[in-house]
Amino acid sequence: MKDFENSFSLNVNNHKVSYTDEGKYGAPAIIFIHGFPFNMSMWNTQIESLTNYCRVITYDIRGFGNSDAGKEDFSIELFAKDLISLMDALKIDKTILCGLSMGGYIALNAIENYPGRFNALILSDTSCKADTTEAKGKRMKAIESIRNDGVEKYADESIKNLFAAESFTNRVKEIAAVREMIVNTSVQSLYNGLLALSVRKETCSILKKIKVPVLIIVGKEDRITPPAAAKFMHEKVKDSFLKVLEHSGHLSNMENSEEFNCQLRSFVESGYQKFILPVQIETD
Ligand code: MLT
Repeated sequence: MKDFENSFSLNVNNHKVSYTDEGKYGAPAIIFIHGFPFNMSMWNTQIESLTNYCRVITYDIRGFGNSDAGKEDFSIELFAKDLISLMDALKIDKTILCGLSMGGYIALNAIENYPGRFNALILSDTSCKADTTEAKGKRMKAIESIRNDGVEKYADESIKNLFAAESFTNRVKEIAAVREMIVNTSVQSLYNGLLALSVRKETCSILKKIKVPVLIIVGKEDRITPPAAAKFMHEKVKDSFLKVLEHSGHLSNMENSEEFNCQLRSFVESGYQKFILPVQIETD
């Protein structure tokens, strides 16, 4: 993982959380939440592209990367509570929130339960739907396969679904990095994460109540949370924009980071100008 200058850890909600805090202190904050079973290093190129505009925070969800798992059972509700505790500890009253896949499930739970804490949302390669019976069954099979065949095999099988076909030629470095994130996750966190994902609640019914601008991004070849899931959310959220990214599967921020970052930057700029407070973007 690339070392950022400002990597820290602190105790929130009964566990140690690792995070980076880059960019301009006092500028509008943006917090990134990674997917399952990855860690904050998946956002490295987004940090670099936004530090001139924002205070940029990435963190490891409990049990992933360098954050402790703590003692409580994992759930999307607990992860959302952790996020709010981290914001409190960092004295961030309001933030822009960007979540990919499981990070998006957490972001949607957070906006439902703590609506006053967010200025804008970016929902990437995610869905508001709960697991179907079939999806729950697949999670149980994944737990069994990790038990029987080990994490390396689980990582190899997962990777087949995570990326667009062309990424296996064009994004070899990113694929290797993601594989490493998966195999470095503890088996207990994999089990607990899979269980938490399988029982998560739907959030489609709250989309109409979202009062902040929302950018929805999805890889054109995302097979896990496909463009149809993104379109479904877009139709329900009033102030939302939908971008379908070429050359991308489920990890669009890594597979087409150029376009992802471009969309992110223009949303942050226009979002502030249109909906929130005008901020001066420095152009030196
Ligand atoms: C993720 O990337 O977070 C996972 O694919 C989410 C899921 O399995 O539902």
